[in-house]
Amino acid sequence: MTVLTLSAEDCRRGNLILVNRRYSIHQAVSEKQSLDDSWLLAADPAWPEILLAQPAALALQKAMADLEAHGRIVPVSGYRSRAEQEKIYQDSLGENGLEFTKKYVALPDCSEHQTGLAIDLGEGGGELDFIRPSFPDSGICGSFKKKAAQYGFVLRYPAGKEEVTGIAHEPWHFRFTGCPHAEIMETKGMVLEEYLEFLRTCPDGCYIWKKEDSLTEIHYVHGGENGAEFAVPEGCPYQVSGDNREGFIITVWRKN
Ligand code: DAL
Ligand code: ZN
Repeated sequence: MTVLTLSAEDCRRGNLILVNRRYSIHQAVSEKQSLDDSWLLAADPAWPEILLAQPAALALQKAMADLEAHGRIVPVSGYRSRAEQEKIYQDSLGENGLEFTKKYVALPDCSEHQTGLAIDLGEGGGELDFIRPSFPDSGICGSFKKKAAQYGFVLRYPAGKEEVTGIAHEPWHFRFTGCPHAEIMETKGMVLEEYLEFLRTCPDGCYIWKKEDSLTEIHYVHGGENGAEFAVPEGCPYQVSGDNREGFIITVWRKN
C-alpha cells in the first residue's frame, strides 16, 4: 500500500481544479506557470502558438485525429497568462461594455484559461470572433461535442447552468478534466461546480464508476491548509488532483 502525503499546495493543482468567480487560481501556481512553459504543448500542431497543459493537448490532438477534424475545427484560445486575461478583460470592457464582458470574459485569476486546461474551439473555414467563436451543434462541431467526454473534455458553460457557473452559455469553451470524470459529469448532467460538490458529499467519501469491464473508485479527501494522507491500494494506477477549494480527488483504477 502506498501512502500519499498531500500538501495544501497540491490542493491548488491537477486536472479537476475549480477556477471560477469564487475560487481564483492560486497566485503561486499562476506565477510559477507563467515563468516556465515546459508544461505546455500545442493544442494543434498547425497552431503552435495556442497552448494547453500537456495531458489536455494530447487528448485534444487524439480527438481531432480520430474525428478527422483538423482544419474543420480550429483552436482559438488556450492557455492565457494573467496578463493576457487582464488585457482581454480590459479590451472587452472598452469594446463591449460591462454587461457583455461579465457574461463572457472571466476576471483575471478567475479564468480557467490560466490553468492550461481550457480551450476555445471554432468552426474552421471562416473568420472567427475571438471571444465568441462560432461552434454550432451541427456537422463536425456537433460530432466533437458528442464525443468530447470520451477524451476527457466537458462543455464547461452549458445553457441552463449560468447561475452555477457565473458565465453565459459558451458552446465553444471546453475544459479538460480527464476520464472518467468528463463522462460522469456528462452522464449526470453536472457542471464542474456540481460534480465536485457531489464527490465532496458522497457517502464514505467514495464514488464508484463502472463502465463495461472497468471499475474506478473516486475518493474525496478533505484537507485544505493542513494537507492530508491517503492510502492507495497496492498495484492500482491512480491520479491525484486538488479541487482548489479544500480537498483532493484521488482516482483509483481498480479494473481497467
Ligand atoms: N470565457 C471564459 C469564461 C474565460 O474568459 O475564461
Ligand atoms: Zn474559453
